[in-house]
Amino acid sequence: MEVQRLGIIGSGLMGSGIAQVAAYSGFDVVIVDVDETRVDAGITGIRRRLEREAERGRISTADAQAAVSRLRGATDMDTLESLSLADAVIEAVVEDIAVKTKLFRRLGEVCKPGALLASNTSSLPLSDLAAASRRPERVIGLHFFNPPWALKLVEIVTTASTTEETLADAHRICEKMGRVPVQVKDTPGFIANRLLVPFIFDGIHLLDSGVATAADIDNACKVGLNHTMGPLATADLIGLDTLQLIAESMFEEYGEPRFKAPTLLRRLVSLGHLGRKTGRGFFRYE
Ligand SMILES: NC(=O)c1ccc[n+]([C@@H]2O[C@H](COP(=O)([O-])OP(=O)(O)OC[C@H]3O[C@@H](n4cnc5c(N)ncnc54)[C@H](O)[C@@H]3O)[C@@H](O)[C@H]2O)c1
Repeated sequence: MEVQRLGIIGSGLMGSGIAQVAAYSGFDVVIVDVDETRVDAGITGIRRRLEREAERGRISTADAQAAVSRLRGATDMDTLESLSLADAVIEAVVEDIAVKTKLFRRLGEVCKPGALLASNTSSLPLSDLAAASRRPERVIGLHFFNPPWALKLVEIVTTASTTEETLADAHRICEKMGRVPVQVKDTPGFIANRLLVPFIFDGIHLLDSGVATAADIDNACKVGLNHTMGPLATADLIGLDTLQLIAESMFEEYGEPRFKAPTLLRRLVSLGHLGRKTGRGFFRYE
C-alpha cells in the first residue's frame, strides 16, 4: 500500500529523529507524545537541526522549510485519535513492554484497516506487540539507529505472522527515507545490539575495575580498532537509562551474564547521569 501519512509515537531522541528523516523524505508526519512540552521540544529540535543543515549548505532552505511544514504535533497519547488516518505508524516510546503493549492494543483499535504498525524497539518481543494489536500480519519492527538523521541502518524485524506485503511496505518506507535495511527475526537485540551491548558492558567493567580511564578505553577502540566512537561514548549517546532497559529485557530472555547491566551503569542511572541528554554520563558534556 502507498504510505504518505505517517504517525510517530514518542518525540524523544529516536522519535524526533525518525520524524525529521520522514518529513524531509516527503511523508506527512504526526508526532505524538504525552504533553505539549515534549512534543514542542521534539519539533523545535527537528527545526533547529534542519536549519543548521541548511546554513551549512548541506540541504536547501526551501527543502528544510518544506520538511518542517509537513510536521505536526499531537498529545492524545491515551486515545491516539490523531493517528486514525495514518497509513503507517512508527512507535518510539520508552523501552517498556507494558507501555508499548498498551499502545499497540490501542493502535489496533484506532488505526484504519490495513495501516502498517511498526515499533522501533531495540530489544522487546515484537510478537507480543503484534498479538496486542489484533492485526499481527501488519506489525513489523523498524529499528532505526541513533542519530537517525546520520545513521542509515534500519533493522527490519519480522515475526512469524508478518506477511510478505507488510515486509514489502516496510522496504518501501525505508527506501523513501534513504535507509539501508537489513532483515532479522524477532529476537532480543536483533543483530546490532546483540553484538554491541556486551561490548559496551565489557568497556564499563574495564572502567569500573580500574584497568584504564574512560578516555583511554574509548581511544583504544577509536585509534586501534578504527571505531568512530568508543563504547563508553556510545553508551552516553544511547542514553544510560535506555541502555539499562535494553539490557534488562535481553538478560531476561537470554539469561546470559554478558547481557546483565553492570552495577556502575545502574548507579549512574539512579543518580540521573543518563549520558549526553543530561550532560553527564561516563563523560561530561557542555
Ligand atoms: N537511544 C537509542 O540509541 C535508541 C536507538 C534505537 C532504538 N531505540 C529505541 O527507541 C525507543 C525510544 O528511545 P529514545 O532513546 O528515543 O528514548 P527517549 O527517552 O529519548 O524518549 C522516549 C519518549 O517516550 C515517551 N514516553 C515515556 N513514557 C511514556 C509512557 N508511559 N507513555 C507514552 N510515552 C512515553 C517520552 O515522553 C519520550 O518522549 C525505545 O524503544 C528504544 O529502545 C533507542
